[in-house]
Amino acid sequence: MTTNRIFKNNREWTTRQLAKDKDYFKNLSLGQAPEYLYIGCSDSRVAAESLMGMEPGEVFVHRNIANLVPNNDLNVMSVINYAVGYLKVNHIIVCGHYHCGGIKLAMQSSDLGILNPWLRNVRDVFRTHKSELTEIKDEELQYKRLVELNVQEQCMNILKTAVVQKAYRERNIHVHGWVFDIHSGKLIDLKIDFRNLLEEIMEIYRLK
Ligand code: CO
Repeated sequence: MTTNRIFKNNREWTTRQLAKDKDYFKNLSLGQAPEYLYIGCSDSRVAAESLMGMEPGEVFVHRNIANLVPNNDLNVMSVINYAVGYLKVNHIIVCGHYHCGGIKLAMQSSDLGILNPWLRNVRDVFRTHKSELTEIKDEELQYKRLVELNVQEQCMNILKTAVVQKAYRERNIHVHGWVFDIHSGKLIDLKIDFRNLLEEIMEIYRLK
């Protein structure tokens, strides 16, 4: 059975962790206080903790196809509410990645069943930034830019939530837009000035 190796890996991992610290799992069981909320793509190549060098307990993770934050998705909204409202994370990261299959699929004119409404969020990003994107003639470069703009728009969706707006008023919370470049393994900070964006969109999205 191909899953056997997973259990073997697990036994080896627990042995290694306990060799370093005999109370490792006991301490883990006491609770979590992660500093970061990471929202990324489900793509198997974009392994959140590995690429950030994070250990268990350090990052609260949510992954879905094309790292989307739809305003009415109960799953991602619950994650944000829990991480920001209860765990009190002060850094929210949206991490897209170049060569994202979800982003490419979204732009193809085919009926994708249940994926239609999900990936339509990506088409909406394209529509919002159509003039910039259609200026880019190289298809690969256009997809790369769409990946970046998708990250930016999902960051905006995070800023639209009541829990993040409340946290913004009360403490030093940051929203980061990043891209993982699979080809080089590098994380790229898109340096989205979220405070400026927030001021810009608050006129429309302010909840209090
Ligand atoms: Co992807």
